[in-house]
Amino acid sequence: MISEKDFIFSPNALDKKEGSYTWSAPSNIALVKYWGKKENQIPANPSISFTLNTCKTITKLDFIRKESQDSFSFDLLFEGQPKEDFKPKIQKFLERIENYCPYLKNYHLKIDTKNTFPHSSGIASSASGMAALAMNIMSLEKDLNPHMTENYFYQKASFLARLGSGSACRSVKGNIVVWGKHEEIVGSSDLFGVAFSNDIHPIFTNYQDTILLVDKGEKQVSSTVGHDLMNQHPFAERRFLQAHHNLSAIKSVLEQGDINRFIEIVESEALTLHAMMMTSLPYFILMKPNTLEIINKIWKFRNEMKIPVCFTLDAGANVHVLCPENVLVETLQFIKNELVGYCQNGQYICDQIGFGSQKL
Ligand code: PMV
Repeated sequence: MISEKDFIFSPNALDKKEGSYTWSAPSNIALVKYWGKKENQIPANPSISFTLNTCKTITKLDFIRKESQDSFSFDLLFEGQPKEDFKPKIQKFLERIENYCPYLKNYHLKIDTKNTFPHSSGIASSASGMAALAMNIMSLEKDLNPHMTENYFYQKASFLARLGSGSACRSVKGNIVVWGKHEEIVGSSDLFGVAFSNDIHPIFTNYQDTILLVDKGEKQVSSTVGHDLMNQHPFAERRFLQAHHNLSAIKSVLEQGDINRFIEIVESEALTLHAMMMTSLPYFILMKPNTLEIINKIWKFRNEMKIPVCFTLDAGANVHVLCPENVLVETLQFIKNELVGYCQNGQYICDQIGFGSQKL
């Protein structure tokens, strides 16, 4: 079994003076949710997600060898402009991965990052952002250690991304990704995400995700705080068990194409995530009135039109509207006619399943 030790860089003679890479990494949307973690970003339960295609972060890493090696040194730019308030998060990330990537202290880094989705859209950029940075770091490591296998490259990239932001490990490779040890998923691990390698029913290829931007404000509770509240949560153990069961169930659903069961699991997972928030101490509500309006409209539309559209939620008020590609036209018409009015400034983003990070 792979352990943390396998990801420690073993020094070798190769040197690299300076260079530059650019990677894009997408966001992802969980179908079975990760909520609750142990030390070192180990998930309390396994999760599975669709990788997105359009919503992504693009990060350019420039590096140049420096004399002193006693601390990290980096500039951080957002859309080409220095962004001091992002620096502490990156500093913390570099410290967390120091053991695994000791060579980083030999370089001055310039990290220039941008997102394809609007700034403060309420779409978390931590998953795509941490994944894009992890990919760049692995490009550097690969230059220092050219014998590295492709499998190791992506596994360690996901491992590093996880240390930045848990769900980021699901944004590295694959269109459907499992993160967290699950007895029925071969190779699954708490340390990194693995592409779901079973055959996927055609109904799930090109699955569509239209993200309705209900509330673009700052989240009142960060996901770090939310995860921590699961530690003392009265329903935690039962919830973690349920996630294992839902992952087993969705595994066969994805293989067999049972869309009604898919809808049931995905919507139940979204509501359970928010139910956990509402029943922790302190309790909180991230859904807005318009979130509920949209959910009710989706249920009515699905019942009346017999079109298999469903919703899921992240840790926020925005609604992800999921549907198979063959009903996209009707679904977009429904969104324009009935849901846009509930979005802030009428904004929504059309996305679909993608394949993970890409070197540019
Ligand atoms: O990766 P984090 O720590 O921001 O947590 C994300 C948790 C959810 O988005 C709510 C669920 C998930 O599995 O992505």
